[in-house]
Amino acid sequence: MPRRRPGTLAGRIALLHAVAHIELNAVDLHWDIIARFTDQPMPPGFYDDWVKAADEESKHFNLICDVLEAMGSHYGALPAHAGMWRAAEDTAGDLKARLAVVPMVLEARGLDVTPGMIELFRKADEPAAIAALEVIYAEEVGHVAYGSKWFNWLCGRDGEDPKDIFHSLVRRHFHGALKPPFNAEKRAEAGLPPDFYWPLAEVLGQDRLPKGPPGVG
Ligand SMILES: [Fe+2]
Ligand SMILES: [Fe+2]
Repeated sequence: MPRRRPGTLAGRIALLHAVAHIELNAVDLHWDIIARFTDQPMPPGFYDDWVKAADEESKHFNLICDVLEAMGSHYGALPAHAGMWRAAEDTAGDLKARLAVVPMVLEARGLDVTPGMIELFRKADEPAAIAALEVIYAEEVGHVAYGSKWFNWLCGRDGEDPKDIFHSLVRRHFHGALKPPFNAEKRAEAGLPPDFYWPLAEVLGQDRLPKGPPGVG
């Protein structure tokens, strides 16, 4: 993986390349959720939501590709990580786990980090990148909201407590860390209350932190 030094043009290209890769994976993931879990019947609105999300991800991918090309690069010019596709494979057998890990953990993470990326491109005076990231930021809230809506719907149908099920599925299927700072406002707008993600940040975070006084690192 290339190191990302955002103060350099190469670093900013690497960052946008990683975003393009995530958007392309997201296109596949939204179509995958439509086709993979047809053994359990879902209301038509479920499919409508993910078709809309997949369409928006295609737009996001194309927007970022245009910016990369204007900066003298292109999608495919750099290596890309397999984390998002690994999450797809890990949750291929369980619709609730897919909803928990992909929209409610990974896409929610996008809400946390995108404002900082927009700020970075503002400092570098790259308006095309800012415009593309602002479209992504505005539309990703909806994808997280679709995730929490249908996750809650499934738990309600099965008579389960969504928060408990979310915690156990994320612990079982997600192998990264939930890292603060969280975008509490946008997460709430998308139907993700703090008691869903904060307990996981503590548990997953402790495994990865070196022993020492709290707050160090
Ligand atoms: Fe997207
Ligand atoms: Fe998305």
